[in-house]
Amino acid sequence: MKKRVFSGIRPTGRIHLGNYLGAVQNYVAMQDEYDCIYSVVDIHALTTLEDTHLLKDNVREQVIDLLAAGLDPDKCILFVQSHVPEVTELFTLLGMATPLSWLLRVPTFKEKVRLQPHNVNYGLVGYPVLMTADIVLYKAEAIPVGEDQLPHLELAREIVRRFNEHFGPIFLEPQGKLTNFPMVVGLDGRDKMSKSLNNHIELAATAEETLKKVMSAVTDPARRLRSDPGHPEVCNVYKLHQHFSPEVIENIAVECRSAARGCVDCKKQLGAAINAYLTPLRARRAEIAADQAYVDKVIREGAAKAQAIAKVTITEVKQRMGL
Ligand code: ADP
Ligand code: NA
Repeated sequence: MKKRVFSGIRPTGRIHLGNYLGAVQNYVAMQDEYDCIYSVVDIHALTTLEDTHLLKDNVREQVIDLLAAGLDPDKCILFVQSHVPEVTELFTLLGMATPLSWLLRVPTFKEKVRLQPHNVNYGLVGYPVLMTADIVLYKAEAIPVGEDQLPHLELAREIVRRFNEHFGPIFLEPQGKLTNFPMVVGLDGRDKMSKSLNNHIELAATAEETLKKVMSAVTDPARRLRSDPGHPEVCNVYKLHQHFSPEVIENIAVECRSAARGCVDCKKQLGAAINAYLTPLRARRAEIAADQAYVDKVIREGAAKAQAIAKVTITEVKQRMGL
């Protein structure tokens, strides 16, 4: 039997290069070898209760992005989290076996409490439990994610262990599966690439938008003058070139170190390389987006396939818990 894979992506906007290089490229790569289930996790997007009027559109855009990136509904299950409500039932049940102290010490939670204490709800503290429910509802073993998600996965493993100790060995301990680019730094060069920091490039951006964003990117901060030698090892643009310009990467490093190339030219070249890479994806995306009926069908059939699996797990869990 093929190993089961699960991963979720929040519909907070269209997919960006961080999501793609850190996780989505593995979603696509794993489709043949594994039994893959991918979810647009709309309930997770509600923890902050911002822009909920955009949620439905964002879900759809996200599905279209995933299809354009190469997910094939004949090879994987692609569904919207809230369309399989069994996950909320499992969330409640798993919550009974999850010590609150574990949730209160999650670093991303503590950070939100520090930065936005007025916007901390019960759903936010339970986020890792819902994420665990997403995974174990499908008894998934391998979880393609970016590096930022590894602490949450560790917690999911602890919740699974605790649950299995109480109720018998029902669930598998999920393992993270990283890409060769598990942490994509944003164009500002400071933090991870993310939509909320607006330091990202969307897969579906136009070629012009992409070029403009890349030209705004921060490079080696020590390089002030065009004649200063650069340090590719600390340069974010160089890191992206490693992925998008592999055939000339050594040249780029040599020319940067000797100041034979300037940052402006280097960024122009990166913008062009990213656009060349994304052109076929963008063309596919436009075709898929124009076919509303197809997108509806993918979403509907994905939910039905996912729910058939979910129902079996919920029945087993309730029986084990004495319900
Ligand atoms: P975001 O972080 O943009 O809000 P999600 O939290 O839904 O998006 O993340 C979707 C997937 O993309 C996760 O597996 C996450 O680890 C990965 N990911 C997000 N940002 C990055 C990044 N900058 N580098 C690598 N992986 C990332
Ligand atoms: Na994330």
